[in-house]
Amino acid sequence: MYCTKRITDDLTWVGANDRRLAMFEGVYSVPSGVSYNSYLLQDEKTVLFDTVDKAVGQRFTENLIHALSGKNLDYLIVQHMEPDHSAGIRDLITRYPGMTIVCNDKTLGLIKQFYDIDIDSRVCIVGEGDVLDTGKHTLHFVMAPMVHWPEVMVTYDSTDKVLFSADAFGCFGALNGALFADEVDFAKDYMDEARRYYANIVGKYGTQVEMLFDKISALEVEMICPLHGFVWRKNILSIISKYRLWSGYEPEQKGVMIAYASVYGNTENAAEILSSTLRDKGIKTVMYDVSVITASEIIAAAFKWSHLVFASTTYNAGIFVTMEALIGDLTAHNIQNRTVAIIENGSWAATSGGLIREKLEKCRNMTFIDSTVSITSGVKVSQLSEISVMAEALAATLPVSRNIPNLPELNNSDEIDPNTMFKLSYGLFVLSVKDGDKDNGCIINTVTQITEKPLRISVAVNKTNLTHDMIINTRVFNVSVLAESAPFSVFERFGFVSGRDTDKFAGSEDNRTHNGIRYLTGYANAVISARVEEVHDFGTHTLFVATVTQAFSMSDEKSLTYQYYFDNIKPKPQLPKGERKGYVCKICGYVYEGDSMPDDFICPLCKHGAGDFEKL
Ligand code: FEO
Repeated sequence: MYCTKRITDDLTWVGANDRRLAMFEGVYSVPSGVSYNSYLLQDEKTVLFDTVDKAVGQRFTENLIHALSGKNLDYLIVQHMEPDHSAGIRDLITRYPGMTIVCNDKTLGLIKQFYDIDIDSRVCIVGEGDVLDTGKHTLHFVMAPMVHWPEVMVTYDSTDKVLFSADAFGCFGALNGALFADEVDFAKDYMDEARRYYANIVGKYGTQVEMLFDKISALEVEMICPLHGFVWRKNILSIISKYRLWSGYEPEQKGVMIAYASVYGNTENAAEILSSTLRDKGIKTVMYDVSVITASEIIAAAFKWSHLVFASTTYNAGIFVTMEALIGDLTAHNIQNRTVAIIENGSWAATSGGLIREKLEKCRNMTFIDSTVSITSGVKVSQLSEISVMAEALAATLPVSRNIPNLPELNNSDEIDPNTMFKLSYGLFVLSVKDGDKDNGCIINTVTQITEKPLRISVAVNKTNLTHDMIINTRVFNVSVLAESAPFSVFERFGFVSGRDTDKFAGSEDNRTHNGIRYLTGYANAVISARVEEVHDFGTHTLFVATVTQAFSMSDEKSLTYQYYFDNIKPKPQLPKGERKGYVCKICGYVYEGDSMPDDFICPLCKHGAGDFEKL
């Protein structure tokens, strides 16, 4: 019996789940199963995006026949020829002999290699930028070579702003009735599997993933339909920002992943002493026994954590077999930009430490902690100091986290007077960014210096702002520090309109810092350029932690504060006459009419939330 899912009026999921597969691609365990996604677009022409693995072919066929409800299939777009997405081609040709197969020339070659079928007479070859009109929908083809295989391409439906992303944005795990990422607690329940999928399937090809991002960054994407895992229709940036980190081999978490291989428990003992010492210092740690935990999980963890410790016994005059396999796998997946420490053990001729280092030195931008710990069988009291030195060296490059006591009734509204927040002093700034040819900026009040060495700042930005999305894409920005002379028109220009339909810098001088981003002159007294190091999701806002790359003053005029803005710049709200009831935005004066205001209301002018409104 069919089991399909409606995505839009025109688009239906006709894929299937496999929960019996032991090893995906013969190497990756999938304890929660895997989905094979196939999408049917029904326009004047009917279009199928990819098929499924042969293991779930019957369900897929039932789904497709049901969704087509008697219509013919006009096009099959083969975005990825790997057999878990192409096993249905032969059957489709038999069922729908008039069907045209749309693919690129590399795909055509692979279809011929894998399947002995007559394809030349029914193929339509497409390349970069080619377009297929199906009636109401226009499909644009974007080549994505090596975003797993060389023939991969993605498709953008510019009518509904849907990106059919092939292997990109995929995730292990069967779809258990939910199709959309926003129907589940993705961050809690699925992000680890999304990372494991990325790191192991596409992790080696970070450069190619970034090239795909460059190509699609100008597209307005409202939905992502990958070949495995959930469809993204909300909070798309949460997965894009993870992909940006993963493809750049940037760690997500500061902390230490310890992977150890131990025959009789002594190397494990050394690893545990190190982990315990680090924990005492407030450093986050995770530990993996490489003989027990599958390599795919440890590779995913290595993509997550900033510091990696490998502890291995010596075996057959080399690295212990499971550790050797892991190190080989990690280097094959192109791991980069990590701080590494090594513990070796050898009862008569310890070699594992040097050999591990030799292999990891071939990876890009690895920093090695020099204090290697070398154990001869069991850990001795005299060696505790060596482990301590290693822990010190690791801790010196890591932030400390302390346990936060459980606080009862956090955010108890009876205890919180929201006006208290207005007693805090804030500056006001124009945050500017450039993505491709597009310059943009917005007003913020959230710039704070965090550290002096290195010089770092944090900036919190509302996710509804285009500037926010552009920083997610480009990871660099400027802050122009507004001075008291800034007129209200600056706030109207940068705060009350959207960069999506306005060029906010139009008509102003084209001043740019070294990073090519514009900054404000005249009403600003200083400029700071910064490069994003960390991205933290706080629901409505993203907090960017960034390293300052350039900074200069332009005048001695006083910096503008929020208080000064309210007292001297912002026009006093013109309250409506008569009996109108409503709420006025304390930031920009916008009036919301009505007896009550929804909690999630966002000011259409300045984008502040309901908390910044007061009753008329
Ligand atoms: Fe499931 Fe590269 O594919």
